[in-house]
Amino acid sequence: MADTTETPTGEALEQKLSELLEVERFEPPEEFRERALLKDPSVYEEAERDWKGWWSRQAKELLDWFEEPTEVLDDSDPPFYKWFADGKINASYNALDRHVDAGKGDKVAFHWRGEEGEERDVTYADLLRDVQRFANALKDLGVQKGDVVGIYVPMIPEVVVAMLACARIGAPHNVVFGGFSATSVRERMEFSEAKALVTVDGARRKGKTAPIKQQVDEHMGDLATLEHIIVIQSTGAGCDMQDGRDVWYHEIVEQAEDECPPEPLDAEHPLYILYTSGSTAKPKGILHTTGGYLTGVAATHKYVFDLKPDEDVYWCAADVGWVTGHSYIVYGPLLNGATSVMWEGAPDYPSRDVWWDIVEHFKVNILYCAPTAIRAFMKWGADLPAKHDLSSLRLLGTVGEPINPKAWLWYHLVIGGSRCPVVDTWWQTETGAIMITPLPGITTTKPGSATKPFPGTTADVVDEEGKPIERGQGLLVIRRPWPSMLRTLYKEEDRFIETYFDKFGRDTYFVGDAARKDEDGYFWIIGRVDDVVNVSGHRLSTAEVESAIVSHRKVAESAVIGQSDEDTGQSICAFVTLEGSEDEGDETIEAEIRDRVADRIGKFARPKRIIWAGDLPKTRSGKIMRRLLRDIAEGRELGDVTTLRDPAVMEQLEGKVKELQEQES
Ligand code: PRX
Repeated sequence: MADTTETPTGEALEQKLSELLEVERFEPPEEFRERALLKDPSVYEEAERDWKGWWSRQAKELLDWFEEPTEVLDDSDPPFYKWFADGKINASYNALDRHVDAGKGDKVAFHWRGEEGEERDVTYADLLRDVQRFANALKDLGVQKGDVVGIYVPMIPEVVVAMLACARIGAPHNVVFGGFSATSVRERMEFSEAKALVTVDGARRKGKTAPIKQQVDEHMGDLATLEHIIVIQSTGAGCDMQDGRDVWYHEIVEQAEDECPPEPLDAEHPLYILYTSGSTAKPKGILHTTGGYLTGVAATHKYVFDLKPDEDVYWCAADVGWVTGHSYIVYGPLLNGATSVMWEGAPDYPSRDVWWDIVEHFKVNILYCAPTAIRAFMKWGADLPAKHDLSSLRLLGTVGEPINPKAWLWYHLVIGGSRCPVVDTWWQTETGAIMITPLPGITTTKPGSATKPFPGTTADVVDEEGKPIERGQGLLVIRRPWPSMLRTLYKEEDRFIETYFDKFGRDTYFVGDAARKDEDGYFWIIGRVDDVVNVSGHRLSTAEVESAIVSHRKVAESAVIGQSDEDTGQSICAFVTLEGSEDEGDETIEAEIRDRVADRIGKFARPKRIIWAGDLPKTRSGKIMRRLLRDIAEGRELGDVTTLRDPAVMEQLEGKVKELQEQES
């Protein structure tokens, strides 16, 4: 039966939330603290005293090495750091074999639930069997150590099998989030020179089936390096198969040998490439290697989530296609021998309380999700979670974007029944693992702050010259190398240095976020300082969206900005100038532009607002001043416009934005 005794709804909830907004600090609940893995704050000093030694201990305690490393960090050529370089290790062995060897083969790795409510329990032994067979099948197709394998698969257990099979033979995987379009997949396969791509016949999306393989075929064209497309029969949607290139997953797996010994790999062997958005239209291939990455994710997953693998059911509600899924659905939980939930679908299908049904059904203890989801749940009302027994929950986490204090408090109160610590975790695709976070049994939390760097990790806020700012706003940097840091941008070494290590020197990682530190040294992340937008925790480059928009034949020019959005954190606002004398576009062009973006990038990148601009604010040298566009969109007082070639442009645009806002309200 639902336990509704504790959590207020309706007006009582609003009242309680406004009271809580006055509370600045939340101590770890006593009951939680008593049983926490880490409860002694001296862990911070201990890690600081000998940070290399501390990381080295994590590597040895949490992972099994074929050859233990004797060297911790090679920092002779910054920013090209090497961690545990003379060690030999395999990610798939650490995720599977050693647990099975320890007698835990029957333990559930994933309680999977599909969109229509069907369930599948996948044990560690199941995964090991399937991973070995698929690894052999990949080898049979000619995939070798070092070859890149693309993976474009929705949230079904086979996506984990595919990733770990690659890791087993040392073939770096390149996973593309299922929400990206097939054009994006092609681009990422081309940049990484992938030899094979694993995909599905179709994917289920809220009761409909998307013909994934057909879309891939339409956009893949002829890629010289791509020798095979391996198709998982997921929905039975059916698809064409190209002779000589395409093979069915189930057929090659059936023909493959059972046993595939894990390849002993150098610690610095590439584990995966994951493309993410930067300041330019071309996505960046973040490269993670094996030993350091595994150390970072295993340690953070264990301590930030206070994981007790023999008791807990853990659920990270992200998608495997993003770094959160890589680190905290696949590698972290499996390394630590956890039992996780894997949910195929959206938070509102088949109903808006499906998450709470899942929590109740699987008795989830630890939930990790994005603030955007929490804001949506707030909007849908506390009555929905109140229909379910959420008393199994003992810890809540968030990731991906700043969380506003009201959403934090709602999560704490309505979902966590005031008994669960909330860990707001800050990190990036580049950092590989959580960097700034509370430790749930130790840290006093403040709603909206990610609090302090994880033990052994440093962060700082600096001014434009790189001078530390003790209080107030500046740029976030990381001073020291950390094991799970990106090693380079795949095939773009110069861009790697330029993007992250030019601004403040080779020994200081430039994050790209603005942040401030408060009187207790707590970090408050403000948002990006570059042309990267965060829509529902999804990272997008404004240049990428602009380039999709200008590919429409009637568009002359476009400037895209991120605008604050109550629901999605930020949303895409596109200023568009049409070719010729046409000042304003009509609904048809508007729809075509949105389709363009969906086709080039993915539906989640479609502009929420399109504003027709006769001209864009430009400096005399022709540079678009996006800062002014952001000011108008946010309704802020305009900054200095005297450097504009034609200051009258601003008045015109301001008028249009106001008109649009009036229409919307
Ligand atoms: O701006 C920060 C924001 O997300 C960016 C990283 O995006 P991505 O590489 O896609 O990784 C997202 C998941 C780890 C950061 O530069 N961000 C991430 N977590 C937080 C956050 N902003 C505020 N608070 C967070 N907890």
